[in-house]
Amino acid sequence: MNREDFPMFKQDIIYLDNGATTFKPTSVIDKMVDYYSNYSANAHRGDYSISYKVDVEYEDARRKVARFINADLDEVVFTSGATEAINVIADGFFDNIIEPGDEIIISKSEHASNVLPWFRLANKKGARIIYAPLDTHLHITLEGIKSVITPKTKIISLAEITNVVGDLRPIKEICELAHANDIFVVVDGAQSVPHKITDVKTSDVDFLVFSGHKMCGPTGVGVLYGKKELLEAVNPLILGGGMNESFDSEQEIFLKDIPQRLEAGTPNIAGVLGIGAAIDYLEKIGMDNITVYEQKLKAYLVERLMQLEHITIINEESGSGIVAFNVEDIFSQDVAYYLNKYNVCVRAGNHCAKILKSITGVKNTVRVSLYFYNTYEEIDSLIELLTDKDKIIKEMI
Ligand code: ALA
Repeated sequence: MNREDFPMFKQDIIYLDNGATTFKPTSVIDKMVDYYSNYSANAHRGDYSISYKVDVEYEDARRKVARFINADLDEVVFTSGATEAINVIADGFFDNIIEPGDEIIISKSEHASNVLPWFRLANKKGARIIYAPLDTHLHITLEGIKSVITPKTKIISLAEITNVVGDLRPIKEICELAHANDIFVVVDGAQSVPHKITDVKTSDVDFLVFSGHKMCGPTGVGVLYGKKELLEAVNPLILGGGMNESFDSEQEIFLKDIPQRLEAGTPNIAGVLGIGAAIDYLEKIGMDNITVYEQKLKAYLVERLMQLEHITIINEESGSGIVAFNVEDIFSQDVAYYLNKYNVCVRAGNHCAKILKSITGVKNTVRVSLYFYNTYEEIDSLIELLTDKDKIIKEMI
């Protein structure tokens, strides 16, 4: 699907590491080059034409993001990525709310970015981290969440789709349950927003974070969504230009409203324009079409992998295009090294989900993560390379 739009496909490469980052279409690259070549001014500061143009396009990109996730305009804050956004929420919002003994629910399959900010907050405040149980498929269930909620629970923070297990969590139902118990819900959408329709009003999440580079956009830009009344209560962690209305020699500071209050300093303008162009691109394909195609491709990949006796899949039931597996007796990084000799890119290791091994007993896996531009032929090539275990052993070093 649409491979001609991606300059990276001029190379003879099979790219199956879309959970790490995605390729960028020409329209996104052109948008950023156009900005740097033709109207490379700062945002929200200049009284001249090229600066006005930047202002208009920057806010237009915010409008696109808001429409894409069904948020209101002032509920969209640009950050450097999903990781920064979770840190802003943990340190700028929950720092004022969490008290000793409070409980924060996460899971053992979360990525580091949805674990470490909560560890720090819990350690600082004397709060407790509680792990929601995973079922036999390593999935989070509503029942599992119910079983760990107590009167002390203040936060549930989960990825909508995890980056190794790839399970799609029932976020809307989790929000209903959480809100009935006065619990906030934070959703890491880094692996879900690029692959499916996102609607923050329907799901009723309190905070949602995601990154541009996993959805055909540039690196270094991401989004923090928060319900307006919650974002207004976020303490800006970074102070500086662009976020203050005024200040005086008596050290009085008057801050701007959200979202500008949370975007101190010169923003990543090219990145923001790039994420806007990425959304235009994805919407042209249609998020529903992307989901359906990836599901079919994933089913084909799982079916083919399961035919190989020396391969064990850890998540064949995943609700996403993420498949993690191991080749019997071969270290995952050796498999990745071998595949790389044939220009096949996969990720190997623990994928930053470092607590997961305490449940699976499996420290490292090979991960294939699909996107809409991957093909059945690419999967056939991968399977052909994995079919002969002795060949992998012979060629892996
Ligand atoms: N979080 C990215 C991944 O899962 C980098 O690969």
